[in-house]
Amino acid sequence: MIEQDFICTDDFEANGIVKWKSPSNIALVKYWGKKDNQIPQNPSISFTLSKSHTTTSVEFKPKKNNENNILFDFQDVKNHPFGHKIKLFISSIDKYFKFLKNHDLHIKSQNNFPHSSGIASSASSMSCLSSCLVDIESLNSKSKEDSYYMKKKSFIARLGSGSASRSTEGPITLWGSSNSYLGSSDLYAINISDDVNKVFHDYQNSILIIDPGVKKISSSIGHKLMNENPFSNTRFDLARNNISRLKEIFKSGHLDDFINLTESEALMIHSLMLSSNPYFILMKPNTLEVIQRVLEFRKDTKLPVSFTLDAGSNVHLLYPNSVKESIQKFIEADLLKFCKSNTHIHDSLGMGSEKLM
Ligand code: PMV
Repeated sequence: MIEQDFICTDDFEANGIVKWKSPSNIALVKYWGKKDNQIPQNPSISFTLSKSHTTTSVEFKPKKNNENNILFDFQDVKNHPFGHKIKLFISSIDKYFKFLKNHDLHIKSQNNFPHSSGIASSASSMSCLSSCLVDIESLNSKSKEDSYYMKKKSFIARLGSGSASRSTEGPITLWGSSNSYLGSSDLYAINISDDVNKVFHDYQNSILIIDPGVKKISSSIGHKLMNENPFSNTRFDLARNNISRLKEIFKSGHLDDFINLTESEALMIHSLMLSSNPYFILMKPNTLEVIQRVLEFRKDTKLPVSFTLDAGSNVHLLYPNSVKESIQKFIEADLLKFCKSNTHIHDSLGMGSEKLM
């Protein structure tokens, strides 16, 4: 499909409310670097999570006047300052939904993970808002195939935040065009959960919150710095190659290879931050403490646990359900002391956006 396919010109006037829930995700092969219009420099693959999510409702009614009336409440705070960003986003996507031009919206959004916990909320919040808007379109206009709406949810989420495109479906998704996956696209994510060894079906992700503070460098600046990074082309080639390696690993279930790939991807994107100009460091001393202990623990116990990092200091531990008890005991005994106020979330793979109302 091409971009123009997502423009909806159907006109309608209606009242109603829709409500969706959408999770966060953790990338295994990372997206770091983009072209114009949120087109990724390389494809990325992630696990969709089940616990950490955003819930959003959108109430819509025909416009009262010519003003653009969009109200945004966040965590029960009426007219939250985040609303400014949401309004800009909505005006940037109005060509894809004709109804945005003649309807007022009241959006209410809530995250179930602690505010300022350091967990990126853009993936869950943008995929949730996108699911609501596409749902309003599908309820009121000429119906298209379900597969069209699935793609459009991811397409619109991508325009809000690249990684959000991977949260509308689960448990494993790919965003970005790749020779390894038929039907893959730079415009939206696709579900690649078929043909995956059963060891991955109930994989676990424990998120260790090292520092809940606001990042000094946003990911959009980080992506931009990749345009000038001296290692960028090598990185994009390696990432493309890691997509085909990961496809094989998903089939075979070889956890040693999975561990090697996920850790190498995490360290590689942080090495790109170190080699950007201006350079920046998002890892904290406790990030490295945790990583060191995970490596030692794995050497001693031979248990298949690996770490990955997002664009911040938090550490995500990945492990199969079969070793959940031992890993969670290890986390409690040896790692929580490096987390801010012991904050952590034991999450696991999930299914993507879900309609609540
Ligand atoms: O979607 P963004 O612009 O917030 O970028 C996400 C970047 C990483 O989390 C580091 C990698 C990824 O693929 O999610």
